[in-house]
Amino acid sequence: MMQLAIINGPNLNLLGVREPHIYGNQTFEDYLTILSKRFPGVELHYYQSNVEGELINYLHTCMGKMDGVIINAGAYTHTSIALADAIAAIALPVVEVHISNVLAREEYRKTSYIASKCVGSISGLGINGYALAVQYFIDKANN
Ligand code: DQA
Repeated sequence: MMQLAIINGPNLNLLGVREPHIYGNQTFEDYLTILSKRFPGVELHYYQSNVEGELINYLHTCMGKMDGVIINAGAYTHTSIALADAIAAIALPVVEVHISNVLAREEYRKTSYIASKCVGSISGLGINGYALAVQYFIDKANN
């Protein structure tokens, strides 16, 4: 069975509560239940942390265990060279996801340090962006 890690960075533990006009009103736990049902052929491993180093440590554990990684690094996207280096280091296909359209918001959200280390990015398609990323890995495996 395909093993995929879904990693959420800072403040994404507050999904459903935090700025619902931007991020929606569904908790990630509820969404994860829906995702698991929608993709029965994939084992999804969920990890969330508000701590940069913990995200890096978890990325390292993905080596040799996961077939791919889906990451919403939250605001660390725009600040963290260390996270970008970790993504490059693990030599796994990583898809960047953002719930909101980061290019349509503040200037400081227009830079992603991780984008160039990822196979691609999904931004602005709401929480469904995670499902689109899972579908990418399934389609890739079936080609
Ligand atoms: C986000 C966008 C980031 O700019 C922001 O800091 C977040 C969430 C998104 O999913 O739209 O925390 O990654």
